[in-house]
Amino acid sequence: MAAPRKIIIDTDPGQDDAVAILLALASPELTVLGITAVAGNVPLHLTARNARIVCELAGRPDIPVFAGCDRPLARALVTAEHVHGKTGLDGPTLPEPAMALQDAHAVDFIIDTLRAEPAGSVTLCPLGPLTNIATALGRAPDIAPRIAEIVLMGGAYFEVGNITPAAEFNIYVDPEAARIVFGAGVKLTVMPLDVTHKVLVTASRNAAFRALGTPVGAAVAAFTDFFERFDRAKYGTDGAPLHDPCVTAYLLRPELFSGRHVNVEIETLSDLTRGMTVADWWRVTDRTANATFIGGVDADGFFALLTERLGRLR
Ligand code: RIB
Ligand code: CA
Repeated sequence: MAAPRKIIIDTDPGQDDAVAILLALASPELTVLGITAVAGNVPLHLTARNARIVCELAGRPDIPVFAGCDRPLARALVTAEHVHGKTGLDGPTLPEPAMALQDAHAVDFIIDTLRAEPAGSVTLCPLGPLTNIATALGRAPDIAPRIAEIVLMGGAYFEVGNITPAAEFNIYVDPEAARIVFGAGVKLTVMPLDVTHKVLVTASRNAAFRALGTPVGAAVAAFTDFFERFDRAKYGTDGAPLHDPCVTAYLLRPELFSGRHVNVEIETLSDLTRGMTVADWWRVTDRTANATFIGGVDADGFFALLTERLGRLR
């Protein structure tokens, strides 16, 4: 096997973030250098708590967890307790974390790690608002060419918005940060709602998690049982969309996914369409392509991978 791929997960857990982190920690193809928490689904003190809860659930209290930005670059924080519950990790009852938060700020960890590791050897995996990533790029522009790739969950085009008619939550919360990241010239792969709404935790898929017979399997089944309420009520879908695990699964098996390399711009000026990801899917402009925008997935292959890997965690 090739040397494991080094990643930093930037996250706002969030039940789906939790599953993405568990999948990464269960996969020897990946080395998680650290987890950086950002304000998003719930305030920062809870996302920093929840990230540690997930590491301990995976049996990995050795993973360094850092707290990052507690609000967007230029706007008030918008949270999503209506989706994720008041703790952000509602569903299973899990113990408070025993592992400590790292002293360093998440942005300093991102900058220092990218400067210390060989150029092109670290992939950033943002699963929430892009505030930490944009702050790091703004404070240390030298890190941009050192980033191997950014693989993020965010945005929507054909699927349109989930927090407003036009925008997906991660981009909506901090559109200025998204504009910086999408304009940084870094290799960028985007998992929008167009693809994440195709990986739904149906009853049989949820049962497969539970059938693992492990604390991780039970927790993931409880996460998705809780998390699906919003989407069932809004979209009438058959189960929770596993947004953030698409990022991890793409790192492990990119062939499960399909998309196009196109231009994607971020709306920051309009109140009506704030946070919209304007993807030039049909290439009707001469704007430079800056992102691989994913729209297709082999959903059965995704869940087979996810369930098998979760089964490796006790
Ligand atoms: O819109 C879905 C995204 O917003 C996911 O990352 C979910 O965790 C929330 O952060
Ligand atoms: Ca998230």
